[in-house]
Amino acid sequence: MNDTILVLNGPNLNLLGKRQPEIYGHETLADAEALCRETAAGFGLRVDFRQSNAEHVLIESIHEFRTGSAGIVINAGAYTHTSVAILDALNTCEVPVIECHISNVHRREAFRHHSYVSLAATAVMAGFGTYGYALAIRHLAHIKSRDAA
Ligand code: DQA
Repeated sequence: MNDTILVLNGPNLNLLGKRQPEIYGHETLADAEALCRETAAGFGLRVDFRQSNAEHVLIESIHEFRTGSAGIVINAGAYTHTSVAILDALNTCEVPVIECHISNVHRREAFRHHSYVSLAATAVMAGFGTYGYALAIRHLAHIKSRDAA
């Protein structure tokens, strides 16, 4: 478990590649998963890659990985901007949490500028496309090796 990163995706991210490609690009969630696995493997880490459209399923995944894992990368989708329940779950985490958005939420509608997830996040990625997931994993690997030293 301590070599495993949870990569957690929220609502509508199952449609990545088909959904507003001018904003989110043409890569699919399966492409993002492959990139995450490859990146993690380069650091001797594993990825548990999940997606759900249901808030409670996301919360239960956070509970599973809140201790003992190598960290959590979360793209909570629209729940980023609405969910106190996901914030409360993230606030129970003893492992680093990286918030990740494919688009640059700060140059979009004002309602996307506020993030509940950020209140619990160690770091935030936005606007790097799916490459942001790889950058987030690299950072978790860095934290893990730094803390082991
Ligand atoms: C998103 C940005 C959110 O505002 C939006 O609701 C999403 C995706 C992103 O990855 O850019 O579903 O989190």
